[in-house]
Order: sequence, then structure tokens, then C-alpha cells
Amino acid sequence: MLKQLILENWKSFRYAELPLDPLTVLIGTNASGKSNVVEALEFIQRIVKGEDIEAALAGDKNLTSIRGGVEGAALKPGTQFTLKALVQGQDDKTDYLYSITIQTKPFIQVLEEYVTRKNNTNNYKQINFPNYLFRFALGSNGIISMSAIFTNENTKIPVTRNFTLRGSMLTDLKIIKFSDSISNEINTVINSIENIFSLNPIISKMRDYSRLSESLETDTSNLAGVLAALPDEQKAEVESTLSDYIKDLPEGDIQRVWAEKVGRFGTDAMLYCVEEWKPGHITEIDARSMSDGTLRFLAILTALLTRSEGSQLVIEEIDNGLHPSRAELLVRILREIGSKRKIDILITTHNPALLDALGSEIVPFVVVAHRDSETGESKLTLLEDIDNFSKLFASYSLGDMTTKGAIERSLSRGN
Ligand SMILES: Nc1ncnc2c1ncn2[C@@H]1O[C@H](COP(=O)(O)OP(=O)(O)OP(=O)(O)O)[C@@H](O)[C@H]1O
Ligand SMILES: [Mg+2]
Repeated sequence: MLKQLILENWKSFRYAELPLDPLTVLIGTNASGKSNVVEALEFIQRIVKGEDIEAALAGDKNLTSIRGGVEGAALKPGTQFTLKALVQGQDDKTDYLYSITIQTKPFIQVLEEYVTRKNNTNNYKQINFPNYLFRFALGSNGIISMSAIFTNENTKIPVTRNFTLRGSMLTDLKIIKFSDSISNEINTVINSIENIFSLNPIISKMRDYSRLSESLETDTSNLAGVLAALPDEQKAEVESTLSDYIKDLPEGDIQRVWAEKVGRFGTDAMLYCVEEWKPGHITEIDARSMSDGTLRFLAILTALLTRSEGSQLVIEEIDNGLHPSRAELLVRILREIGSKRKIDILITTHNPALLDALGSEIVPFVVVAHRDSETGESKLTLLEDIDNFSKLFASYSLGDMTTKGAIERSLSRGN
């Protein structure tokens, strides 16, 4: 799992650190930089998964573009950026720092990419990883070959390249034979970053029949297909959990949710639910007739229930389309399923009701995005660290603080 994300010259940020905890809440006014942070996570996930940098930024037939594409990636007017992710190792003592620096102009290329090992007892700048140097060679047959030279463990050797590479090298490391311990370390870093999932439900796409699929698309268009493809026992369990939570919606009308294979060959699926608005009057409807808010709620729940344990889930504007009365249930779901399935969650929100539902225990995990009044650059500040926070918190609830602009006032005074 990721413990921290560091942005350098990424979009509106000159430098910022985002701590990542089991539940982290990112707040801030419009254009403060919240979505830019989320897009940084999406971008490193894409390139570590093996996407070419240009496609990861500009999008292609399978990927939506990161807003602004290649042109908009580096802090303007600059032409390069660095993203770093601090990854938790398998034991509590070791972390790994993954770093990639990319130039966007005059052409895209990776300038530097490395992973360093950080032991708790040491400053990670002193103990470095990888302890090998990669060499690439373009053979006469046009095939690029790669070799690794093992070096002294204590010397930092960035992964250097003698030709332009347009993607992360981390994925290439998967196919190289290393000692088991090095392979484990590399896989920890790769899996943690690959497992970042940015949920972006597109409700209209959820209403259609969907193909049976193994994993949820970020737009959740294949939600029914994912549920229907689960092994019977797991399907029953997931659908029963979905139904239990959906029954708790304040309206209390939806009794059960499930997916079914449809069509002659059973390769597609549809989502169904049973509603009871009037006692004794049961109506069965499919996804085409469900409300937008219900589908959004199901998208969040299904992501939490079907993403692999130990992964990272990012939900932008989580409250989008949800009635404030659903805030408490949403918070309960995030906390209960998140901790049970060890899924770390990052949410962004503008919703005062949701912030209030999160309660005072969330305070240490709230990060505020804001624009520095002198430089105009985006900054990330822990809510607890803003000037006068305890005084503010004594007179306002978290929700009130955002509604009344108290946080922004305090931050601009701090400047
Ligand atoms: N390459 C760049 N260089 C400088 N600033 C940039 C760059 N790309 C984006 N920005 C700035 O980022 C801002 C948008 O930030 P973002 O979309 O992250 O805001 P947000 O906090 O998500 O806002 P909202 O609540 O409205 O969704 C733009 O106003 C733009 O000024
Ligand atoms: Mg946004």
C-alpha cells in the first residue's frame, strides 16, 4: 500500500506531500488542486502497469485522458515533473520510495526512474535501491535487450538509460530473474502502485448490459458483469452484503440487489433490484430504471467489496449525487468495509454533511488543498496544521468550517 505521494512540478503543484492513511479526506475549494492530486495517482498507476507515458497522459482508445494531456502535465511554464510514491514494505521496518521524472517537451521521455529502500532505523537517502544498473542495447535485429549489473548495495544508482524510453521501466523488471528477495521487493512496489484504483462511475454506462468481467472498470460500466462472474459462493456473499447496506439507505425501499447472466450464451449480465415502496407491493426493476444515486452507491460498494485486499481506492467527489441523509451510511461503509478488507481509501469531497458524519476522529487525516496567495501554486496542508485550528474546531464543526470559508481564511492569514 502507499503511505505517501509526493508531487514535484505536477500541474498546479510546485511541491506537495500527501500522506495516505486507511481513510484520507482531501478537501479544498474549486480549482484548489484536488483533482490534480487524484490524477497524479491515476498517472503513476497507468505507467507502472505498462502504459506508454503519452497514452497515459493523452489517453487512447482504452484510456480516458488526464485533463490537459501531455501539455498540461508539468507546472506551467515548466516542461518536466517528478512523482514519487512511498510504498509500505511487507514488514513494518522497510518502505520503498519509487520516483519517476518525466520531460514533456520538446518530446516525452523519462529522465530518471528509481526505487530506493528505506529502513526505519535509517534515513532512506543513505540506503539505496536498486543495487543494480540496467543497460539497454538495441540489437541489429531491432530488439531491445536489457541487462542488469549488480553493484554495491549502498550506492544509489538511478536506473539510467542510453536511449529514449517512453514508459516506466518498472514493468520490465517483472520479467527479469532476480534473487527471490529482490523480486519480492520489486513486486511489492509494482503491486502497490498497480493496485491503485480510481473510481469514476459513469451512471449512464451502468444501465446497459455488460460483459462478464474479472475486474471492475474505473467507470464501473461492467459492474453487473463483475458480480455475475464471481464464483457462486463469493457472489452470494457480496450480493448479500450489498443488499444489507442498501436496505439501510434512509429511504428503506430497496430490499435486495443482485446480478444475473443474460442472453443465450450467458456472456453478458444485468443488475436487478427489488423495491418495496408500499408494504407488500414488491417491484422488480433492472439497472435501466434504478435511480442515479442508487447506482452510484452500488458502484462505491461494489468497488470496496471486489477490489483486492490491501489495495488503494480513490473516490473523487464521493458525495456526488448522494442525498445528505446518506452521508452517515456512506461513512459507515467506508470505515467498515475498508478496515475489514484492508482497502485504503482516499476521498475528495465538498459536502459539509459528509465531513460532519466523519466526525472528529477524521481530523488528523484531513488534508486541505489550497492556492498559495503569493505564488498561486497549489499546496497541501494537514487540517490540524493550519493556524488556529483548535480554536476554529472549538467553534465550528468540520462541515461548518468549509461552508463558512473559515479554513481558507486561516490559510491565507498563515501565508
Ligand atoms: N500544468 C499546469 N500548470 C499550472 N496550473 C495548472 C496546470 N494544470 C492545471 N492547473 C491548475 O489546476 C486547476 C484545477 O485544479 P483541480 O481541477 O485539481 O481543482 P479541484 O480542487 O479538483 O477543483 P473542483 O473542486 O472544482 O473540482 C486549474 O484552475 C489550473 O489553474
Ligand atoms: Mg475536482
